[in-house]
Amino acid sequence: MDIDWAELEQRAVEVAGHAHAPYSKFPVGAAGLADDGRIVVGCNVENASHGLGLCAECGLVSALHATGGGRLVAVTVRKGDGGHIVPCGRCRQLLHEAGGRDLLVDTDGHPRPLSVLLPEAFGPEDLL
Ligand code: THU
Repeated sequence: MDIDWAELEQRAVEVAGHAHAPYSKFPVGAAGLADDGRIVVGCNVENASHGLGLCAECGLVSALHATGGGRLVAVTVRKGDGGHIVPCGRCRQLLHEAGGRDLLVDTDGHPRPLSVLLPEAFGPEDLL
């Protein structure tokens, strides 16, 4: 499947503009390509009760399911200024459930499979 990383970057930066990040002042946008070709996005949403904040990847995974489901194939996560960030640990686990070990994650311009960022991941098969 062709992955248009430039399009994903543009969509991630765009959605970072909708972040609700008044506490950290660190807006984040995430954009992902689903296996049916559609692009899903999410932004971080913080809360006055600081520990309740939601990362951009949470919104992305929610949008994946809300718009028809499927599997993520490729993801990029960007700061509002366009710089890369790599998903935090919790979000690597969320992405693993939505895309598995082969999900490509853009890390500073180098797409790497999630299996590199989250080796020996716990997953649904471990519950069998
Ligand atoms: N953040 C994300 O949205 N994704 C990550 O992978 C790392 C951090 C957000 C959480 C918080 O709103 C802000 O960045 C600062 O940590």
